[in-house]
Amino acid sequence: MSTSSTYQHAWQQAACDPDQFWAEQAVQLKWHTAPTVTSRPSATADGLVEWFPDGKLNTAWLALDAHIEDGRGEQTAIIYDSPVTASKARISYSELHHQVSQCAGMLRDLQVQQGDRVIIYMPMVPQAIVAMLACARIGAVHCVVFGGFAANELAVRIDDAQADIILTASCGIEIDRIIEYKPLVDQAIARATHQVRHCVVLQRPQAVAAMQAGRDLDWQEQVDRAKPAEAVPVAATHPLYILYTSGTTGKPKGVVRDHGGHAVAMRYSMNAVYGMQPGEVFWAASDVGWVVGHSYIVYGPLLSGCTTVMFEGKPVRTPDAGAVWRVCAEYGVKALFTAPTAFRAIRKEDPQAALARQYDLRRLERLYLAGERLDPPTWTWLQEHIQRPVLDHWWQTETGWAIAANPVGYGLEQVRPGSATFPLPGYLLDILDDEARPVTAGNQGNIVIRLPLPPGCLTSIWGNPERLRAGYLSQFPGYYQTGDAGYVDADGYVFIMGRTDDIINVAGHRLSTGEMEEVIGSHPAVAECAVIGVPDAIKGELPMGLVVLKNDAVAQLDQLNEQLSALLREEIGALACYQRTLIVTRLPKTRSGKILRRILRQMVRGEAWVVPSTIEDPGCLDELAALLEEPAGARCVAHKM
Ligand code: COA
Ligand code: AMP
Repeated sequence: MSTSSTYQHAWQQAACDPDQFWAEQAVQLKWHTAPTVTSRPSATADGLVEWFPDGKLNTAWLALDAHIEDGRGEQTAIIYDSPVTASKARISYSELHHQVSQCAGMLRDLQVQQGDRVIIYMPMVPQAIVAMLACARIGAVHCVVFGGFAANELAVRIDDAQADIILTASCGIEIDRIIEYKPLVDQAIARATHQVRHCVVLQRPQAVAAMQAGRDLDWQEQVDRAKPAEAVPVAATHPLYILYTSGTTGKPKGVVRDHGGHAVAMRYSMNAVYGMQPGEVFWAASDVGWVVGHSYIVYGPLLSGCTTVMFEGKPVRTPDAGAVWRVCAEYGVKALFTAPTAFRAIRKEDPQAALARQYDLRRLERLYLAGERLDPPTWTWLQEHIQRPVLDHWWQTETGWAIAANPVGYGLEQVRPGSATFPLPGYLLDILDDEARPVTAGNQGNIVIRLPLPPGCLTSIWGNPERLRAGYLSQFPGYYQTGDAGYVDADGYVFIMGRTDDIINVAGHRLSTGEMEEVIGSHPAVAECAVIGVPDAIKGELPMGLVVLKNDAVAQLDQLNEQLSALLREEIGALACYQRTLIVTRLPKTRSGKILRRILRQMVRGEAWVVPSTIEDPGCLDELAALLEEPAGARCVAHKM
């Protein structure tokens, strides 16, 4: 394996003596009580460990007070750039400290105790970061819900997290559309079984929310009257946050992350993966509602004393496809991180990257891509037009930081198009077939990580540790199952090829087809259905529903399609981007009744497929193949069965 020797040395060290390796990283942090034990077996998940179990610290203190102690108080912590409201602001570490302390004081006044869960449902405004850090400051557990999710998704999370408090804003802004959040929050509270005690609303001038007396409180009034709260040292193993992510069933999984292991991993990765130093500007063009936002809009940059950019806009149409380059130039961004879909959208509108040439990008050193496969055409386009290293890296909500990357912190710059490069120190990858046998280099299989997982990875599934075992640790004993398929080539480069389960990736957003099937299945005309991801030139994948109608149902395809699309918007959110339905007489199934999803995926991707021997009725594939030949929506005929 031809990699730089420092990277190789670090990887070996982390593999042979993980405790020693991570103890050396942990000393970079200012602990309230330094850990004397680096790891011990997890009490709830066989094979995982608890990191730094006897250490005490506070993540918000490390992200704020520690920098002020080090003389960084006047440095900009957050650059807020909002083309949708025509506003910009810089918030220093001292100012952010003040705002977080006030907000933490407000939570205290609302009787929020250590360990209590607080839902944050907010657009991309600095108060979302303030809210997260305020929870961390008093040892409460935040649970950020992406603003694009519908009321039902919010209700499910309120119930699962048993959250008493919601912090929200009156609205978000999607390009030029005001999305009123408060009616969605009201609906969610009404739908949830768990009783929400208070809802604190940041009133934005674009839409003023109606308030329910007693329950709803005005953000500004509350923080103004609060007494600032000091940071409370918590055990390193204390939960910092829950972040829900799609699983294979309709119920999302609450990934739990701790204070100690997470802080160590964030500090380490900011330098090892992104090569960032204190004082430099980092921009993760994502949303605080996703793991990328948690790790690299908020915690990574702030724990590392960097300046983070919070951008309330889109890569296109706010106002044009030059927005990303404008922000990089204006603030001297050193490293930009986003999803490939953003660049596919930019490339469509500005194929020659003419807008990029209007800006001085000399301070931009590297581009980082993740969240979905970085397709070689997008890689080539960026490389050609932006002329910077374009680094793909692979990770997931569960790991919280990259599993495989080109770690520039070790001086490595050895990319291979289509590859996420090498496993990072702490991650030991194997590729196994379905019977858990290792496959040889270059052959595709299940990508698994040898246990234990490094610091920063999930410590549990909220309220359901059994789901952690069943979903990730049981199929391949001794390993964490990533749910991704791929291969490692003869030189050790990791290639990620797609999910092995029913999760699809729409514009970098991870969605469960199982959840969509539950929603579609609730339509009165639908007997059964399967949702699969269909390739899309901009968004990577889009969901498509194959629907079998009830015997007595009469439905016209275009109407049904509209109704299903509306239903998914209502139940999951607009981000589902559901636009296409096919009505079929039956779904391809095994004799035992299991839907043959792999063959469906192959068919819609135009890949070669073989009729499986287990199929109950091969004739249904001919019907589907014929339907797929047709343009979307062309079969607007009445179906009666
Ligand atoms: N609040 C409310 N609605 C939201 C929302 C939010 N925070 N985010 C998205 N939506 C809505 C959009 O308005 C859109 O609604 P519409 O169908 O009524 O127009 C729908 O959800 C789909 O949104 P999106 O997939 O973002 O499509 P888009 O056409 O608005 O933008 C991209 C496409 C590629 C520009 C955009 O998805 C993008 O920038 N993605 C890459 C970055 C990223 O955030 N990745 C996530 C993880 S790294
Ligand atoms: P999320 O948990 O939303 O971050 O989604 C994680 C999933 O996105 C992974 O399991 C992969 O399927 C996919 N993914 C993330 N990064 C990459 C990448 N660099 N290449 C291919 N797929 C990726």
